Amino acid sequence: MSSTFYKISKKILFQLDPEKAHDLALWSLKNLDACGLSLNNKTIVNTPTNVMGLTFRNQVGLAAGVDKNGDFIKPLQNLGFGFIELGTVTPKPQPGNPRPRLFRVPEADALVNRLGFNNKGVDYLIEQVKSVQRDSIIGINIGKNKTTPIEDAHHDYEYCLRKVYPLADYVTINISSPNTENLRSLQRSDNLHMLLKRISATREALRTSLGVMKPIAIKIAPDLDDFELENIVEAVRTYEFDGIIATNTTTQRPHREFNNLSETGGLSGGLLTQASTQIIQKLSNLTQGSIPIIGVGGILNRQDALDKISAGASLVQIYSGLIYNGPRLIRDCAQAISLLRQPGK
Ligand code: FNR
Repeated sequence: MSSTFYKISKKILFQLDPEKAHDLALWSLKNLDACGLSLNNKTIVNTPTNVMGLTFRNQVGLAAGVDKNGDFIKPLQNLGFGFIELGTVTPKPQPGNPRPRLFRVPEADALVNRLGFNNKGVDYLIEQVKSVQRDSIIGINIGKNKTTPIEDAHHDYEYCLRKVYPLADYVTINISSPNTENLRSLQRSDNLHMLLKRISATREALRTSLGVMKPIAIKIAPDLDDFELENIVEAVRTYEFDGIIATNTTTQRPHREFNNLSETGGLSGGLLTQASTQIIQKLSNLTQGSIPIIGVGGILNRQDALDKISAGASLVQIYSGLIYNGPRLIRDCAQAISLLRQPGK
């Protein structure tokens, strides 16, 4: 996509309510793609990388939340991502929180959202994945329904895992959204051990019956202290999970003078960059490379992506940066990361 075309589109989209703009952008992308106008595919960066036992065509992925239902897989793949993470999906469809629930903080290329896992349910999502031609790795991010009590959350994760396991290249356990009541309490040591133990047993049963082992990653919040991070690493090791996705949105508010920062929800984009990179660095120190880290949070330019890789991430993901800086960011970041691998650069 030329940068002029993106700048014009952005001007129009930013006049609209943010959630309507999001829907319109994806709908337009899909229709352009259907007319053979794939925006980036001649320039997809192809630098195969092995992580979690999978081969990624490049190291830049789409973060969860952009395509919650798998409605836009093909056009998103054609933008040049190395991998696409769909979801968060829950067992039953649910509407999410009342609107408005997505807010721009343009001064900082940031967003606040309290969508609350609005999605069409796991059955709908798997039908979309089944029907699409796959050109890249597809991860599926799973969560729990709002109405499921937190003490029963494991049922929802196990249910979704069974449904998505045959189709997903990897599965993400989302225990870090701030917009589902008490979800983040699943990151606490006692809850986490109970949850991961059950998920691990379900995976083992699926591995035995289907004869294939699928990687599972845990997605964590940026608001964890050192003790909580140690516990997460310990639990991931104990139950032999395959990766940690760091991070989800933050409930912290670093610069209160900007409009919309007083809105309840998770903050992403430019005000999250540093906090998320710090978490990646801490995880990397704790794991010494033994657990792959997928770095996400405030990647707005190639340097932000390189910082995540330098801090210890093996792959990165983008959400807010795509909205503020357009699809060009995907190639920029993938190229910059690939150059790190060339000796002498
Ligand atoms: C998200 N994010 C998210 N994460 C997740 O695991 N499941 C989800 O359903 C969503 N939904 C969602 C909606 C919106 C509107 C936003 C902005 C974000 C979090 C996202 O995947 C990512 O972790 C953070 O946004 C940080 O990355 P960026 O946006 O700073 O690149």
